[in-house]
Amino acid sequence: MSYPLALDLTGRPAVVVGGGRVALRRARGLLAAGAEVTVIAPDVLPELASLRVTVRNRIFRNGDLAGCWLAHAATSDPAVNAAVAAEAEAARIWCVRADDANASAAWMPAVTRHGEVTVAVTAGGDPRRAARLRSAIALALAGGTLPVRPARPAKAGQVALIGGGPGDPGLLTVRGRRLLGEADVVLTDRLAPRGVLAELEPDVEIINVGKAPHAHNMTQEQINDLLTSRALAGQRVVRLKGGDPFVFGRGGEEALACVRAGVPFEIVPGVTSATAVPACAGIPVTHRGVTQDFAVVSAHLDPSHPGSTVDWAGLATGPGTLVLLMAVGRLRQISGELIKRGRPGGTPVAVISDGTTGTERVLVSTLDSIAADAEAQAVRPPAVVVVGEVVRLRELLGMS
Ligand SMILES: C[S@@+](CC[C@H](N)C(=O)[O-])C[C@H]1O[C@@H](n2cnc3c(N)ncnc32)[C@H](O)[C@@H]1O
Repeated sequence: MSYPLALDLTGRPAVVVGGGRVALRRARGLLAAGAEVTVIAPDVLPELASLRVTVRNRIFRNGDLAGCWLAHAATSDPAVNAAVAAEAEAARIWCVRADDANASAAWMPAVTRHGEVTVAVTAGGDPRRAARLRSAIALALAGGTLPVRPARPAKAGQVALIGGGPGDPGLLTVRGRRLLGEADVVLTDRLAPRGVLAELEPDVEIINVGKAPHAHNMTQEQINDLLTSRALAGQRVVRLKGGDPFVFGRGGEEALACVRAGVPFEIVPGVTSATAVPACAGIPVTHRGVTQDFAVVSAHLDPSHPGSTVDWAGLATGPGTLVLLMAVGRLRQISGELIKRGRPGGTPVAVISDGTTGTERVLVSTLDSIAADAEAQAVRPPAVVVVGEVVRLRELLGMS
């Protein structure tokens, strides 16, 4: 059985015998660990010679390992590697033979690093198996499905504004998932992918800040205060939002609150429902030969509302796809406005509610009938409304 160990090589001499790709990898690893590296080989790859190493352009000689702490025998010639290993053995220097694990006194593990965590894998002398396992662990670490949250408090608190995607937990980004796995406290709301919260460690505090229509929600100011005060108290705070935090998500306001409070923050973009919900329902928002542009519109205000700044006339006359968010309660006014201003009543419309989730529903109609059809089918928010010829793609893709 081998004896796993981590070495501090800072400032310590190490020798790499060999000048090819394996030697290059070994030299890079040693340099990253702070070792003083000497490379010995008659031919050395230019990439290797250009590193911060001492190069001796000649064959290995007995005595070349004098004074070093670690040696790598990484030539393509087993006899040279054996000679390096023999000198190392005699001088009690650990030596890794690249060509023959059985004849080696030390082995290189497959390594992955994640912040301060280093995972080194060996697999009974089978480097491919070790590398496969290492890659799987690296993926799990990056995806946040392994418990890597440091036990000690963070040096300074911070806020991560994470876009959680439209609902399917699989559409949360790898970076978002990793930061979520490191959080002390998570502020979430109705549209965030709540499925991932169940996977967090039990001591992670989850605060539901609301954001449901007509519910008793926290005000934006209260949310900003909570985010910044927790970070100032040294906690790693995640604000998990639906879709992308900067698409009708008030992420900009939360980032500004962090700036004002002097709290470090990070923005992790998310998969926005504006494009992902139609995509998952088989509707591309652009399609060659159909339309070259699309507009994403917040329809939370009636077009006749004095506070509405949306250019409905411009949107009605252009050929582009319209993607309307927060539109379910105003379908009658919006469709009427678009028809009044020039969009043909026969334009296809899709209303996709609970997109990407197990309760997704898709209603396909036309601009002149969509309001009545949605009422008849009791369509509820959240829903994305798509207006335009691209809606026909859903049928062509066999998804209707
Ligand atoms: C306040 S906006 C937030 C948008 C979000 N930041 C994004 O990028 O997707 C909320 C609206 O997004 C849309 N929405 C979000 N998730 C949805 C989903 N899973 N299915 C349908 N619509 C969704 C709805 O129009 C909803 O009213």
